[in-house]
Amino acid sequence: MTVADEVVTDPARDVDESSGVLVDGDPVRPEGVEVHILNKPKGVVSTARDTHGRPTVTEFVPSARRLYPVGRLDVDTTGLILLTNDGELANQLTHPRYEVAKTYLVRVGRAVHDEALRALRDGVDLDDGRTAPAKVRQLEPGVLELTIHEGRKHQVKRMCEAVGFPVKELTRIAFGPLRLEKLAPGRHRRLTAPEIERLRSSTR
Ligand code: URA
Repeated sequence: MTVADEVVTDPARDVDESSGVLVDGDPVRPEGVEVHILNKPKGVVSTARDTHGRPTVTEFVPSARRLYPVGRLDVDTTGLILLTNDGELANQLTHPRYEVAKTYLVRVGRAVHDEALRALRDGVDLDDGRTAPAKVRQLEPGVLELTIHEGRKHQVKRMCEAVGFPVKELTRIAFGPLRLEKLAPGRHRRLTAPEIERLRSSTR
C-alpha cells in the first residue's frame, strides 16, 4: 500500500479520501461505491420502480446496495445504462454542464441523404430549442452512429424524426469513456476502480 507515493506498512495509519491511497497501484475508495454497466433489453424501464409492473433495470443487477440508474433510456431503447449507489456521481454524469458524450446506433430503415445528415450535424430545431451540433456517420444505408452531448427527453428520436427519418431501432453503445462492447442484452458487469476513475474524470 502507498499513501501519497510513500510505502506504508502500518495498518493503523489514518487516511481519508484525499490521502491518495493505492493498493498494487490502484486507487482505493471508501468501501461501498458500486457502478455497474448493463445492456438494457427492450421492454425494461430505466427507473428504479415501475407503477405498471414492468421489469426495471435494477432487477437485472443484484446488489446488497440500493442502486439507481444514471439517466434514462426509453422502454424500447436497448443498450448501455449505468447503475450506481453514488448519487453525486450519477448527478454529475447527467448534469448538462458536463456534456458527457452519449453514442447511439440508430436504425431508420432507409438511406439518409446528405441534407438530413448535415442538419443533424449542425443542429435541429425542436420544440424545446435547437440541438447542439452532433457527430453523425452513416455506417451503412439506414444505420447511423450518432453522438450527442445533451440529454433531452427522446432527443435522438425527435432529432431523426425532425429531419424526416423516424427511428425504428435505437441502441446506446457508449457513455463517456465506456463502450458496451460484447455485453449481451440483459447482462451486466461491475466497473473496476480504474474505469470508475475514468468516468469521474469525464465530468471534470
Ligand atoms: N434518445 C431517445 O430518443 N431515446 C432514448 O432512449 C435515448 C436517447
